[in-house]
Amino acid sequence: MTTRRDIIASSLGLASAALPGMSVLAADYGRGMDGRLMRLPKLDLESHDAFLTTIRVWANTDLAKAARNRATALMQAKGMDPFKAATRADMIALMENDPLIMTHANTWLRNQELMWKVLRTELYSRADFYLSEMESADKAGPGALEVNPRMELPAYTKEEIHMMPGGYVGDELAGHMYHYGTNNFWMGENYQDGVHIGLAEETPVPQDGKVKRILDLGCSCGQLTVALKERFPNAEVWGIDAGGPMARYAHMRASRMKNGANFAQRLAEDTHFPDNHFDIVTSFILFHEVHPDAEPKIMSEVNRVLRPGGVFYPIEGRMRRPAPPTSAFGVFNSWWIRRWNYEVWNEHYAVADYPAILTKAGFVVTDNAASRDNGAGNNNVIGSGTANIMGTKKA
Ligand SMILES: C[S@@+](CC[C@H](N)C(=O)[O-])C[C@H]1O[C@@H](n2cnc3c(N)ncnc32)[C@H](O)[C@@H]1O
Repeated sequence: MTTRRDIIASSLGLASAALPGMSVLAADYGRGMDGRLMRLPKLDLESHDAFLTTIRVWANTDLAKAARNRATALMQAKGMDPFKAATRADMIALMENDPLIMTHANTWLRNQELMWKVLRTELYSRADFYLSEMESADKAGPGALEVNPRMELPAYTKEEIHMMPGGYVGDELAGHMYHYGTNNFWMGENYQDGVHIGLAEETPVPQDGKVKRILDLGCSCGQLTVALKERFPNAEVWGIDAGGPMARYAHMRASRMKNGANFAQRLAEDTHFPDNHFDIVTSFILFHEVHPDAEPKIMSEVNRVLRPGGVFYPIEGRMRRPAPPTSAFGVFNSWWIRRWNYEVWNEHYAVADYPAILTKAGFVVTDNAASRDNGAGNNNVIGSGTANIMGTKKA
């Protein structure tokens, strides 16, 4: 029988016997919690994390601003209007060899590659420990876990989005990778769930105020899901994700927090929940990573599982109104992010009309006045609108 040690060993090109044993690993692991965070196992690794996150902050702020200014100057020199969309080919030709623009792009990209490499090396050097820990948490409560390893996964869910090795569904430690890795994405703001707690607070409730059941789609490691459970402690809260390792990690983390949210490996387009079941459905930065053909299917499924008057709150940069304009530099960025960060549907996402897709799926679309510009607005488009939209299921 193939054991998990065999799987790990083969992914590292080693014989199974070459992996260290659990007792050795456990002995040097525990550095305890820092608030909501299970600390990384070595000070050295925390230093890498902090250093690479600092570079990310610089790349996303001062360096990004300099690159944008350079792009504007290049366009103006050619008589182009930087605030009007241009063709992708024109933009690539203009920008691809500019040293400043490419220093920005490469600093960002190589930093992210390095971040994944450092994390993966660490996680797989102690894989037996991390997997054993998840195994022993699988049946722990509060809150249930369901994994469906035989579930048929649409091809698009298997992409290695963000260059994350193995992607969301193809690596047993994807939840760990994503949780620690996205601290870098969120420029150091991820470890205490700051972004997600803010999003749970701004999540709109149905007009009658009744909130008994909540569903969070594409929950990854469950940070919004647990924050929703904290805001609505009496509600039954579910987080679902295509990735089994994501659901397992989310459950382990939530049960360690004594949170009570439930997690399942299920698809957003086929949730298996009954009709009219939920009062609120949320998703956070799911749609920009979903195949365009799956989007209307997911919206219809949400409409089916929401009760009349229930609200859908899909949080995403392009779900804001007024929709951010597509500038010429935005055309270049959308291409660049698809090409190098493997955000495979990014160019579709950058121009999609989400209010129209939601309306077609049966929602009444309004703006959520409580929404803040919380970082979701930076999702691959220049500028961000004033309010995130929400859909209410017709009564
Ligand atoms: C960018 S992450 C979402 C982040 C997360 N919502 C949060 O609060 O941080 C996208 C997630 O959506 C999941 N996903 C993609 N397609 C899906 C689908 N059709 N059904 C369920 N989950 C899906 C991926 O596995 C991944 O974990």
